[in-house]
Amino acid sequence: MPDLVDKFFQRDLSEAEQAALSAADVIVWMHPVYWYSVPGLLKHWFDQVLVHGWAYGEGGNALRGKRCLWVTTTGGDEAAYSATGMHEQPFANFAPPIEETARFCGMHWESPVVIQMTWAVTASVAFWLGTNSTDAMRTPFSRSGAGGRPRACP
Ligand SMILES: Cc1cc2nc3c(=O)[nH]c(=O)nc-3n(C[C@H](O)[C@H](O)[C@H](O)COP(=O)(O)O)c2cc1C
Repeated sequence: MPDLVDKFFQRDLSEAEQAALSAADVIVWMHPVYWYSVPGLLKHWFDQVLVHGWAYGEGGNALRGKRCLWVTTTGGDEAAYSATGMHEQPFANFAPPIEETARFCGMHWESPVVIQMTWAVTASVAFWLGTNSTDAMRTPFSRSGAGGRPRACP
């Protein structure tokens, strides 16, 4: 049986990725939500790049003080992410592992941007999102933010 990690994942990505992160002030984690979390490739990126002695632990200060912005898209809308909806709880309840990953590495957690019901996003909205992103779009559910629930984008 082939080693699926070798087959599908690049093992030696950490050096180049770490160099890019070191040079950045703001780190954006942008991805679709897959099974209430990050897609497997991004999880692999976390595992390979955010390593002990570099991102956390003794001598692991490379990301300390940088800003981390989480930008994500979901198929479900606000109703789906409610007690009576198909996902049974607010989307904010799925954020802590991502947020804590950033905080554990000493990053400042920015108020996330969550774009919901992506199957209904029209070209004009997508254009607006791409060119006029403002704080008003951000879903204020960060512990450091104003609190509240994620909203569908306008
Ligand atoms: C494997 C897979 C798992 C998904 N899991 C979820 C989920 O847990 N919650 C959700 O709201 N949407 C889920 N979706 C829908 C995606 O989040 C949605 O299609 C995506 O955000 C659209 O962005 P894209 O056009 O960049 O793919 C899933 C889609 C796929 C393919």
